[in-house]
Amino acid sequence: MHLVLPLFPLYFLVTKVSALGPREPFIDIQLQREPSPLWNALNVSVEGRLFAAEPFARSCFQRVGLDVVGTFNQSLCNEVELKYTDRDQRLATFNGYSNTAWETCQSTDEGCLLDALDPSNIAATSLPAVCKQGSLPRYYIIVQQAKDVIEAFKFSLRTGINIAIKNTGHDYSGRSSSPNSLGLWISYNPDFVPNKCKSVKPTKAVTLGTGVSTGELNSFADLHNVTVVGPADTSIAFGGGYIQGGGHSAFSNSLGLASDQALEFDVVTPDGQHRTANACQNSDLFFALRGGGGSTFGVVLHVTVKAYPKISFPVVRTAFPGPASPTAQLELAKFLIQHGFEWASKGWGGYVVPSLGVTYVNPFINMSEAAAFMEPFRSLTNAINGTFILEEETSYFSFYQKFVAPTSPPIGNPIAIASRLIPADLFKTSSAQGRLSETVESLIAQNHTTLFLFAVAPFFFKDDGTSSLNPAWRSAIWHIIATDPWNFDTTKSEYEAIYSKLHQSSQLLHKLVPNGGTYLNEADLFEQDFEASFWGSNYPRLVAIKKKYDPNHLLDCWKCVGWRGQRDSRYKCYPQLGL
Ligand SMILES: Cc1cc2nc3c(=O)[nH]c(=O)nc-3n(C[C@H](O)[C@H](O)[C@H](O)COP(=O)(O)OP(=O)(O)OC[C@H]3O[C@@H](n4cnc5c(N)ncnc54)[C@H](O)[C@@H]3O)c2cc1C
Ligand SMILES: *[C@@H]1O[C@H](CO)[C@@H](O)[C@H](O)[C@H]1NC(C)=O
Ligand SMILES: *[C@@H]1O[C@H](CO)[C@@H](O)[C@H](O)[C@H]1NC(C)=O
Ligand SMILES: *[C@@H]1O[C@H](CO)[C@@H](O)[C@H](O)[C@H]1NC(C)=O
Ligand SMILES: *[C@@H]1O[C@H](CO)[C@@H](O)[C@H](O)[C@H]1NC(C)=O
Ligand SMILES: *[C@@H]1O[C@H](CO)[C@@H](O)[C@H](O)[C@H]1NC(C)=O
Ligand SMILES: *[C@@H]1O[C@H](CO)[C@@H](O)[C@H](O)[C@H]1NC(C)=O
Repeated sequence: MHLVLPLFPLYFLVTKVSALGPREPFIDIQLQREPSPLWNALNVSVEGRLFAAEPFARSCFQRVGLDVVGTFNQSLCNEVELKYTDRDQRLATFNGYSNTAWETCQSTDEGCLLDALDPSNIAATSLPAVCKQGSLPRYYIIVQQAKDVIEAFKFSLRTGINIAIKNTGHDYSGRSSSPNSLGLWISYNPDFVPNKCKSVKPTKAVTLGTGVSTGELNSFADLHNVTVVGPADTSIAFGGGYIQGGGHSAFSNSLGLASDQALEFDVVTPDGQHRTANACQNSDLFFALRGGGGSTFGVVLHVTVKAYPKISFPVVRTAFPGPASPTAQLELAKFLIQHGFEWASKGWGGYVVPSLGVTYVNPFINMSEAAAFMEPFRSLTNAINGTFILEEETSYFSFYQKFVAPTSPPIGNPIAIASRLIPADLFKTSSAQGRLSETVESLIAQNHTTLFLFAVAPFFFKDDGTSSLNPAWRSAIWHIIATDPWNFDTTKSEYEAIYSKLHQSSQLLHKLVPNGGTYLNEADLFEQDFEASFWGSNYPRLVAIKKKYDPNHLLDCWKCVGWRGQRDSRYKCYPQLGL
């Protein structure tokens, strides 16, 4: 039976009774989307690579919203449950987001989530649960060539349908999904594997497709005996939002941020042109793509980045036997604050989780020097009942596999975040150190699920000043982050309270660092004065470049360069908090 639904002129309604499974039987109401001539024409122009987007856990639900495609299917559902929080699985699918808050419509509390802690929990899918499309785009193109993007921009200009560029779906501010939009999936494709390790004089370099994950890049680089330093999480797209937003690593103090490694971008700009952006051509775009943020200046297809030779370096890892007491956390933090300037000036950088311990690296000193330098820290660690390890790693890859990947936080759950860059000045005098310690103490008292004191600002590294990265990064030492996750059954008022709590912590940090900087990829959703926080003095130039390459404003994202503000229908699923 086919009924035409006037509200959804593009679709037809199909009603059928689905097979009985362990979940309660129910009439499966679904829309079979039979694309209109408009979508069909787009599909032809992208050689059949246009698909309807089905929510990640669709197959587990018997009741779905009117516009949701796909079917209930117990055996598919079993697979979804098994891999619900699996990095590779979410990476390998268009509909899998790392932060699942952005698969849902937070303003209306609608989505299609499973229990992130126990995906087989039928409470998530039984009555009265209904699987809704949420913020997931309706259709998506699997981008394989520049022409696909050119066609998508033409389509968006003609129809007014928004574009959402989705790579791995890690964005904390929902910039890679949008309700009722056309998704562009920068997916993994054999052609997009890092294909050459070419020598661009005078630097070694690696060129990679932007759909390549950090995990793939790490093993590729290792195989070729070169080093490309990247993020903590294997499932981030190095060439996607990561490098375009800055991109920090344990080595960014010593070797620079990801945007400092960029040599060239292969990009389709919203004016429909396929361009090369480097220091010699389209150099304004090259400036913008190194720190200006993803999803703003175009769709990047490939990036070429500097590669270093294989490196050996000392690693310091400390750990507490169990979660550390607030007292021990504060003692650790105070020590690191007192020594922060000295450590950064010497090339040390890394990750600190006050409740768990630290991981620090330095590619510029040898083991004996490291042992002498770290002696006071070894004593402190012992005094607060922690264990201290200093060892030499013989490659970035072995360090990554042993120390970084295993401690990456879980994905596949909804989560909110707040952060601020902490300038070197706050580490210099004892009164400044005191103020920083007090703020850290307040943050510890907030009892966020995670508190990170990341020593990842490029303080030791000297850049050439030609990128759009917020200059505040260059005079900072730490990037403090707090996060709190939630789950499928968290109520709207509960997750709104989580956002408010993080916003409070963000305000604490703003009070400590007025007129400072915040990392745009890991910011409070309600970041105040975001233009100054994310880009500082580079903002006006970025806006001019945005206008030049996106004259029709086909790309827009949350608190991105030149955004039109939250009244745009694109943001109707964002939490409506008025913060
Ligand atoms: C668990 C976790 C760990 C993290 N660890 C780190 C870390 O160690 N260091 C760090 O710096 N950051 C880290 N981040 C933040 C991360 O860098 C950002 O979320 C980043 O934007 C992810 O980029 P993506 O392309 O993989 O994700 P997506 O969500 O797919 O994309 C992010 C943004 O970039 C745009 N975009 C993606 N691909 C392209 C493209 N090809 N062309 C144009 N625009 C594009 C999207 O539209 C969106 O606006 C982490 C995030 C998470 C969730
Ligand atoms: C696009 O075309 C391909 C190949 O013909 C087809 O498999 C796919 O289902 C079409 N997409 C849509 C949304 O109809
Ligand atoms: C469920 O999905 C599996 C795997 O794709 C498929 O083989 C099977 O036919 C589907 N079952 C139903 C009832 O559609
Ligand atoms: C990498 O180094 C190893 C050990 O020196 C060597 O065997 C291998 O051939 C090198 N690989 C490449 C691609 O140069
Ligand atoms: C380690 O570095 C220090 C300082 O540069 C130097 O004096 C010492 O000789 C080095 N030791 C080794 C074993 O290379
Ligand atoms: C370390 O352990 C000792 C003995 O168990 C205990 O008395 C002390 O309070 C602990 N110190 C810290 C900082 O937790
Ligand atoms: C901190 O949070 C944890 C887990 O959410 C909880 O068990 C604990 O009671 C909280 N502690 C305080 C002091 O609020």
